[in-house]
Amino acid sequence: MTRGAGPLRHPCPDLFTPKAGCLQRFEGYIRSSSGPCNRCMRKELENLRGFFDNKDGKGKYMTVLRLRGFDIYKAFLDPVAQQAVLGDIRSVVKKAPFFRPETPGGKKMSVRMTSAGQYGWFSDADGYRYADQHPNGTAWPAIPETVLSIWNALTGLERKPECCLINYYASDAKMGMHQDRDEADFRWPVVSVSLGDEALFRIGGQKRGGKTDSLWLQSGDVVVMGGEARLNHHGVDRVRAGSSKLLPKGGRINLTMRVVK
Ligand code: SIN
Ligand code: MN
Repeated sequence: MTRGAGPLRHPCPDLFTPKAGCLQRFEGYIRSSSGPCNRCMRKELENLRGFFDNKDGKGKYMTVLRLRGFDIYKAFLDPVAQQAVLGDIRSVVKKAPFFRPETPGGKKMSVRMTSAGQYGWFSDADGYRYADQHPNGTAWPAIPETVLSIWNALTGLERKPECCLINYYASDAKMGMHQDRDEADFRWPVVSVSLGDEALFRIGGQKRGGKTDSLWLQSGDVVVMGGEARLNHHGVDRVRAGSSKLLPKGGRINLTMRVVK
């Protein structure tokens, strides 16, 4: 990844509404729960928003935000790449249909889920865990190469994820604040890919409660949750119905790649 100086060029300028304040370029995307002014975040964003050459070396630049230790790659997947990933996810879902897990407390989750990889994430009265089979008794399909290539490009790790959790959010679905902590080794990052309708993603700290910051994740955005922030709480407050045309019936798909064992 080559970093260099250059003018900030946001891939979706039409969606951005600058407001008066110190964080004009980013205010349309990031909301802070800690006060009306985002000045406290400005320095971090100034330091960490990056411009780097993309894979084809044609000199396109990408916006990278860092919020509470999560790296957010805006529009990492262009519309063609989003369609390719979506096509592969459809093939996975044909073999391993979505289901609605129950929380250990006995409530149905609003998000529908399935997985690809050696393990799939699962929850019922016995708790949160990884399972080596879909509830229908078959092995989970392999993680598609298109999805693995996102992991490879952003982490550069030899170690590959053993689970790609696939979440489907209908317009009324949300996900409460939680940590991803069912994996054996938190040194490996979790890589999250957003497809379809935008979602208001909230990021907190390692402790439950306390300050949070939120931003809208759009189709093609990729978030890397790793390092010191690996155990930061996060959740999805809501999905903005009709904000993307990627999924013909609407809604949002989120993929999270995890090293499990
Ligand atoms: C998750 O935390 O598993 C999903 C996050 C998201 O939907 O963006
Ligand atoms: Mn999570």
